[in-house]
Amino acid sequence: MKKVTIHALQKKKAEGQKICVVTAYDAAFARIFDEAGIDALLVGDSLGMVIQGQASTLPVSMEHMLYHTQAVSRGAQRCHIVADLPFGSYQASDEEAVRNATRLIAEGGAGSVKLEGGESYASTVKRLVRAGIPVMGHIGLMPQQVHNMGGFVVQGRGEEEAQRIMRDAKALEQAGVYALVLEAIPAELARTLGAMLSIPTIGIGAGKHCDGQVLVSYDLLGLMADFKPKFVKRYANLYATVLEAAVQFCEEVRAEHFPGEEHSFHAMRLVASNPPMEEEPGRTGFDYGAPI
Ligand code: KIV
Repeated sequence: MKKVTIHALQKKKAEGQKICVVTAYDAAFARIFDEAGIDALLVGDSLGMVIQGQASTLPVSMEHMLYHTQAVSRGAQRCHIVADLPFGSYQASDEEAVRNATRLIAEGGAGSVKLEGGESYASTVKRLVRAGIPVMGHIGLMPQQVHNMGGFVVQGRGEEEAQRIMRDAKALEQAGVYALVLEAIPAELARTLGAMLSIPTIGIGAGKHCDGQVLVSYDLLGLMADFKPKFVKRYANLYATVLEAAVQFCEEVRAEHFPGEEHSFHAMRLVASNPPMEEEPGRTGFDYGAPI
């Protein structure tokens, strides 16, 4: 199956087609999103919060990112895969950035990497692009800068901040990012940025004028019961679905309704009433993994 390329994503902007991106952290969800027609899967360092239960993305390591990027790569055949460079993996030097980004591509199977930062990271972006690594930028609210930003707060509401974000966007485009995530900025500013840049803008909490949208999949699916920021729309309530399934499982186990006869194996020679199983070619003995 043909992979979605960064050029295909850029062509979408040129043709006025919206780009759909969600985060993915494992093979099972990656496979579903791939089948759904999502354009790109972001193995976001948001995994620190939604998978690991941390209060921020800061504790996420390169090893965590590699583990999840590999899992997503195994699940997705068509989607472009973007892997986040985690906090501390690209700030110390451009050489370290290249080393770590290379691992996400070569060992993780990602098609590009994403890093948070504006103008001051333009040289890092240039170095990565020169090394053959496609880079997605990320400005506005940058969760890895949560301590500098005074929390998870909307950016660019004032004129001075908006001007700084525009300078960041221009510098990153010139440095060679192929697309730019705009997080938690006013919709009007995102519209201005989209018109100013030739690369696609992917918004999260940045209004409808972006060239594409990204959501954390666990938010979109309604898995996070206690967390629903203004910019999130829940397309499902999987928290309730999973809760109901788990409660039902407990009830059935306690009432001895599960497992039923159809879920049980028997030793053929010991149980006289058990008819011998029809053996499929290449399968002998117990039918352990019959397809559903
Ligand atoms: O880590 C992440 O999930 C992200 C998105 C919020 C854009 O960076």
